Amino acid sequence: MTQTPERTTPPAPPAAIDQGKLEAFLGKVVNEVGAAYNTVLTAIGDQLGLYRVLADAGPLSSAELAERSGTAERYVREWANAQAASGFLSYDPVAGTYELPPEQAFVLADDTSPVYLAGIFQGAPAVFGMTPRIVEGFRTGQGVGWHEHGQALFEGTERFFRSGYRANLVSEWIPALEGVETKLQTGAVVADVGCGHGASTLLLAEAFPNSTFVGFDYHQASIDAARARAADAGLPADRVRFDVAGAADYPGTYDVVAIFDALHDMGDPLAVARHVRESLAPDGTFMLFEPAAGDQISDNLNPVGRLYYAISTMVCTPASLDQPGRMALGAQAGPARLGEILTEAGFTRVREAARTPFNIVLEGRP
Ligand SMILES: C[S@@+](CC[C@H](N)C(=O)[O-])C[C@H]1O[C@@H](n2cnc3c(N)ncnc32)[C@H](O)[C@@H]1O
Repeated sequence: MTQTPERTTPPAPPAAIDQGKLEAFLGKVVNEVGAAYNTVLTAIGDQLGLYRVLADAGPLSSAELAERSGTAERYVREWANAQAASGFLSYDPVAGTYELPPEQAFVLADDTSPVYLAGIFQGAPAVFGMTPRIVEGFRTGQGVGWHEHGQALFEGTERFFRSGYRANLVSEWIPALEGVETKLQTGAVVADVGCGHGASTLLLAEAFPNSTFVGFDYHQASIDAARARAADAGLPADRVRFDVAGAADYPGTYDVVAIFDALHDMGDPLAVARHVRESLAPDGTFMLFEPAAGDQISDNLNPVGRLYYAISTMVCTPASLDQPGRMALGAQAGPARLGEILTEAGFTRVREAARTPFNIVLEGRP
């Protein structure tokens, strides 16, 4: 039997390799894996209230941070060093203290901030835990339902989106739709389809007390959470309710139907858009809120597109593949493709009404 002789010197890199580009990519890899781990550490800091303590207290030693948050110092010290190396905390080597700078506090510790993004970190580890299911999906083509994910994704999604809704929904996006603000002020009937925990429904219900709102979602646990949120907010049950129903067959007729970041998760967005069209009053409005994207793949090869394509691979595309229709639109479909679906569903006037760096709002009229 012949054996390959053992190599005594490392192989030389192939001649075509550019050393500068190789080093740049190796640097990117270190940064990338560090960021992935730091995402989990950030979710831990959020869950344990470490950012809140730091935001309230100013610079703290790891012992002080541990004591005030009821956690173990040795874990906290290692966490804080990783966070300082990531630029999430600053470190004072003389005092031996860690500080949450005000800008980081605005993003990670202030739940009234328009850019409070702790929720997106909360959801990530739950999604990472689904990796074996997603690998199976790559092999078989089968989907993974939204409902199969963990509670942390449902809550994290609610918290992440609520910040943007609170900052823009009532003040910017509703006024951007033709005649909708006046209708809501006067008294309209509104459906929020794929409402999740009802963040958008509740903000609208609070802002427009003459209108009535129903949130639909196929996921029973999300509807239960939305009902609990409505009760906590003291909203009257005859004006705001949440029911389990699919987006292609929910009951009723509405002046406004809204779908917030959910159409692309559905198996048959065309059937859903047709049902929305049928469920609208003759002069009604379909408000479609979707992730910001361009119409070409190359338009989306940027940091926001990277994040959305990644989440879409792990969550949105598998969710759609789990439902009848299996259209798997993806989270970066872009306004032209979304507009085509609305037009094919019978909407005669379709336009982009608003846009932020993260999202677009399309308006569909019958
Ligand atoms: C990304 S979450 C967005 C939730 C909520 N609209 C928000 O903005 O926070 C997508 C939601 O769509 C719901 N969903 C997915 N497919 C659905 C379907 N066919 N019918 C009704 N709801 C659906 C999921 O249960 C989930 O709550």
